[in-house]
Amino acid sequence: MKTKRFKNPYIDEIAKFEEVISGEEDFLKRKSSFVYPVILDIGCGNGEVLVDLASKNPGKFYLGFELQYKEVYRTVQKIKKLDLKNCKVVKVEAEKIPELFDSDQICEVNIFFPDPWPKTRQKKNRLIKKTYIDALITRMRKESTIKIKTDNDDYFVQILTVLHSIASEKKIEILELTRDYHSSAVRKNEYITPFERIFLKQGFLINYICCKINDRVQ
Ligand SMILES: C[S@@+](CC[C@H](N)C(=O)[O-])C[C@H]1O[C@@H](n2cnc3c(N)ncnc32)[C@H](O)[C@@H]1O
Repeated sequence: MKTKRFKNPYIDEIAKFEEVISGEEDFLKRKSSFVYPVILDIGCGNGEVLVDLASKNPGKFYLGFELQYKEVYRTVQKIKKLDLKNCKVVKVEAEKIPELFDSDQICEVNIFFPDPWPKTRQKKNRLIKKTYIDALITRMRKESTIKIKTDNDDYFVQILTVLHSIASEKKIEILELTRDYHSSAVRKNEYITPFERIFLKQGFLINYICCKINDRVQ
């Protein structure tokens, strides 16, 4: 008996929307239409934060990077509902971002609750590594910021090690750092992300770090 191969139904759905950029080739074709510098939400999930920011800041241009077809679909539904012209969702691995942009094209990066890959054998899959952040900041403007939140303490220690190492090379400066964002003085009246809501409900503390790019690094 032949078994039918499953095709994710969201693949065809997202192809209908001009607001979805699908794959590197599509990105490179369309990158001249973006308004620079851009703000990135890396691993934007269902797009709640991306769309909230884009709707409140019509003069800025937002790109959400997301891997899962369903989440890309949920994001584009929100973009369409508000008819946002300053926001797109990109179905490309975040690892590719440094190759996709030129220097000075990014002015802000949010990485909220990156997949934690908690098991020892999975840790190599974590996005935030020194090589990645070193490459990413070469595409960012001086004075621009990277904000990271995670509930995972082990990953946060890795993130701190990476960022402290880059700070020691004077490429970035750490502006804000807390192991408990919601009880800290650095907390702002920002949108609480879907994963943040879940972790807060479960009683986890939210780790947060914000750093500023000191100098363009070639
Ligand atoms: C834990 S969720 C967080 C979603 C959202 N930022 C939030 O705070 O609610 C992580 C998201 O990152 C996406 N993701 C994981 N690895 C990725 C990658 N390499 N490139 C782009 N997105 C990725 C996942 O599909 C998932 O939607």
